[in-house]
Amino acid sequence: MKFGIKTLDDFELKGKTVLMRVDINEPINHEDGTLNDITRIEGCLPTIKEISDAGAKLVLMAHQGSGIEYENFYTTAPHAKVISKLLGREIKFVADVAGPTAVQAIKDLGVGEILLLDNVRFLNEEDTLFEKALRLSHKEQADTLLIRNLAPLGDIYVNDAFAATHRDQPSLCAFQQILPSAMGRLFEKEYEVISELIENPAKPCVFVLGGSKISDAFLMMESVLAKGAADHVLTGGLVGQVMNWAAGVNIGKDSKDFITAKGFVELVPLAKDLLDKYGDKIVRPVDGAHVIDGKRFDVDFDHIVETESLMDIGAETAKLYSQIIADAKTVFVNGPMGVFEKEVTQLGTKTVFDALGSTAGYTVIGGGDSITASKKYDVADKIDYVCTAGGALIRFLSGEELPVVKALKEGATK
Ligand code: 3PG
Repeated sequence: MKFGIKTLDDFELKGKTVLMRVDINEPINHEDGTLNDITRIEGCLPTIKEISDAGAKLVLMAHQGSGIEYENFYTTAPHAKVISKLLGREIKFVADVAGPTAVQAIKDLGVGEILLLDNVRFLNEEDTLFEKALRLSHKEQADTLLIRNLAPLGDIYVNDAFAATHRDQPSLCAFQQILPSAMGRLFEKEYEVISELIENPAKPCVFVLGGSKISDAFLMMESVLAKGAADHVLTGGLVGQVMNWAAGVNIGKDSKDFITAKGFVELVPLAKDLLDKYGDKIVRPVDGAHVIDGKRFDVDFDHIVETESLMDIGAETAKLYSQIIADAKTVFVNGPMGVFEKEVTQLGTKTVFDALGSTAGYTVIGGGDSITASKKYDVADKIDYVCTAGGALIRFLSGEELPVVKALKEGATK
């Protein structure tokens, strides 16, 4: 047991059927149906190997994208190929999650064999939108299709999906109601490292929050600022735009329409409240960048083009952020500053990641986009800790007990 949660050391795995939830949510290349990154798969490989080598029958469950991140909503078939390649032996895959084909494939598994089921979010009950609307308790989640159909086939449930610790969904939180449960090795390592880091970060401690999945950033800011864990929060991407909107800065009609269409306009009052309380610690972009006819234009907020969205922080902001990062003793980064995938709008993200690569402070990055950016700008090996979690990392840093941790602790008493 560690942190009130069982580990693999607490179980005899030989001959057992282990149902394991992993987070191998990766960016999808839609042109050829392959994965643009495999960091998360590599992260949970040691747990997969350990369980299979111990002579268990291993069933893997995973999500890929969601209703919120629809561009990555996809089958997990390519992941099975990657796992097979990394392990050097074929693992099985079924294009089913909890139906008769999946059930039969689990029953047919031999000792040491591994089966990956299809994207669990192909079931409505697993989607984040479903979670947010219905807020089922873990007990209620145990009565969903996935758990009803699969739990009777398993002996042990393992959760190695640290990157999804903040989600309250059946595959993550409900098997623990029924089966003896443990965290996997990746979960154990990430939990340990991150808990220790946030306990006593060297100061000044800077959080850099960007990207487009921004609700988690707003959910954690209050707590790290109130506790004094963060000395500065540098905001970029849509986080920066919402902050500026809340501060009464004109970010332009097009950007406002985009934020509204994404459903993030409800974050504006929250941002206002944060600025009232911690305005001296929250750093907002002082300029931004438009792309017009394929060319980049850096503009201050008096020269916004109303009909063009902001696609990056501006050069002045990038310079300011890189200076603050250079002076920091601890830096946590989640999310890019703009659309860094495109040459013309990568300056903000590149500058921030270059600064991360050269600061003497302790650096931690989290999440798919941050990992991709660190590789793109060749600083991945200069980052002190690369966490597989993005949204979950920043929620974890806020100190709140996350749903999966709670479920595993509940499971440890069973
Ligand atoms: C992530 O990408 O942060 C995790 O895989 C969780 O994904 P989600 O935000 O779609 O739940």
